[in-house]
Amino acid sequence: MSKLDKDIENMFLPSLKAAKLRKKMPTETIKYEVEEKYKDLGKGKTYYIYTYGCQGNMADSEIMAGILESVGYTLSNDPIDADVVLLNTCAVRENAEQRIWGVLGQLKGRKRLHPDMIIGICGCMPQEEKATNKLINSYEFVDIVFGTHNRDHLPYLISQVFETRKTVVEVLSNEGSILECAPKRRESTFKAWVHIMYGCDEFCTYCIVPYTRGKERSRAKEDILAEVKELKEKGYKEITLLGQNVNAYGKDLNDGSYTFGDLLVDIDKIGIDRVRFTSPHPRDMDEKAMQAMANCKSVMPHLHFPVQSGNDRVLKIMNRKYTRKEYMDKINRLYELIPDISITTDIIVGFPGETYEEFKDTVSLVKEARFEGAYTFIYSPREGTPAAIMDDPISAEDKHKWFNELCEATNEGYLKGHERFIGREVEVLVEGPAKSGENMMSGYTPNNKLTHFESTDQSLIGKFVKVKITKANTWFMIGDLVE
Ligand code: 5AD
Ligand code: SF4
Repeated sequence: MSKLDKDIENMFLPSLKAAKLRKKMPTETIKYEVEEKYKDLGKGKTYYIYTYGCQGNMADSEIMAGILESVGYTLSNDPIDADVVLLNTCAVRENAEQRIWGVLGQLKGRKRLHPDMIIGICGCMPQEEKATNKLINSYEFVDIVFGTHNRDHLPYLISQVFETRKTVVEVLSNEGSILECAPKRRESTFKAWVHIMYGCDEFCTYCIVPYTRGKERSRAKEDILAEVKELKEKGYKEITLLGQNVNAYGKDLNDGSYTFGDLLVDIDKIGIDRVRFTSPHPRDMDEKAMQAMANCKSVMPHLHFPVQSGNDRVLKIMNRKYTRKEYMDKINRLYELIPDISITTDIIVGFPGETYEEFKDTVSLVKEARFEGAYTFIYSPREGTPAAIMDDPISAEDKHKWFNELCEATNEGYLKGHERFIGREVEVLVEGPAKSGENMMSGYTPNNKLTHFESTDQSLIGKFVKVKITKANTWFMIGDLVE
């Protein structure tokens, strides 16, 4: 008998087809409250969360940690001893998924030593039919499988495992809701994530996210502003506004007239020192948002602006809905409004059918746009997306060659972006001891440049210091503390 027939409880299986539907229904807002019956669910027990993927997942893990703590669990420093271990997963590329299968292999051994350990898989991967079927059929030691839409059910899902001792599968494939009032265990005491919207309606042909994260839905502006005010009162110095397409903020609210640019202006008035956001969609980056970036003191002069390709035909089959010229017009406008801005990007190499000449258009765009950094990816087919069934004649070997060629161009951009600060005094928000170099501390500048300086003063962590830049290399800048 397969695991499927045998011992699955609460079986809600994912469906990519259902996930694609965008029904015209108002978005439901769920206010999280701890149910009385779960208040002591985790008393005396511990949890550990592994987080993979984007900043959205990091923010979700902080919510799940908060929810677990609201029912009595405490954080374990070591996953080996934890009573509940969650893997918050990413599905955006194949290699992200490979890592998860690897970690699951290690957890299998731990569970033999600690049979009461509850292992849960959540996030984007379970939203894929193929992944959830594999989990159910080949990873019988996994106790809970849930997705991106029901993290508030976590206490219930754990209680079901205690009650039934069966695998609990609850993956919902709907448009998604908005969860408010959930407790959060924030990782940092000075930097915080703030979701402003969830989901994505873009359906770029290579991307699984619109299927795993549901429709675009914006949080109410009042809820966002209240969260930012609370962070300011608690002494947070920097916030990063999160969404798959932050520039779509507000399109689904009221008459759609209050947009991302308006939100930046209102957040700026709260007076938090630094505001960042990720990620905008180039098509939706409007004049109002660019003006807000230029005029709001707290909005940092750094923009992560995913382009994906510099060739019009490839952009079209990616369904990006802009041309190279339209993208460059926005870049040029940004440089005009904010001359000191640093722009970084995401690029996909080897999209199905891309030719070498088309790829070279991307390399030339890297130079023309003066990118000071880029996340570069080799195209990874995602089952269920339109690109996964497109002809893909270019060999993996060629794609790797193109990838290396692209990295040469993007690395040059990184270096130039650092070198231009030599001799300048910059403000650094100190994160902690530098990962390399003895007696060095590090942090980030307004332009989001990693900066190292000589110091062992731990009391600087979470504070702003002035650093005069003396050296630069591809990955960071070095400078001296200015008294
Ligand atoms: N293959 C490779 N890269 C991808 N991305 C999204 N989907 C894929 C895929 N199937 C990249 C895009 C996006 C970033 C978050 O991940 O560049 O901007
Ligand atoms: Fe994926 Fe495109 Fe949406 Fe970004 S905008 S999450 S790449 S579908």
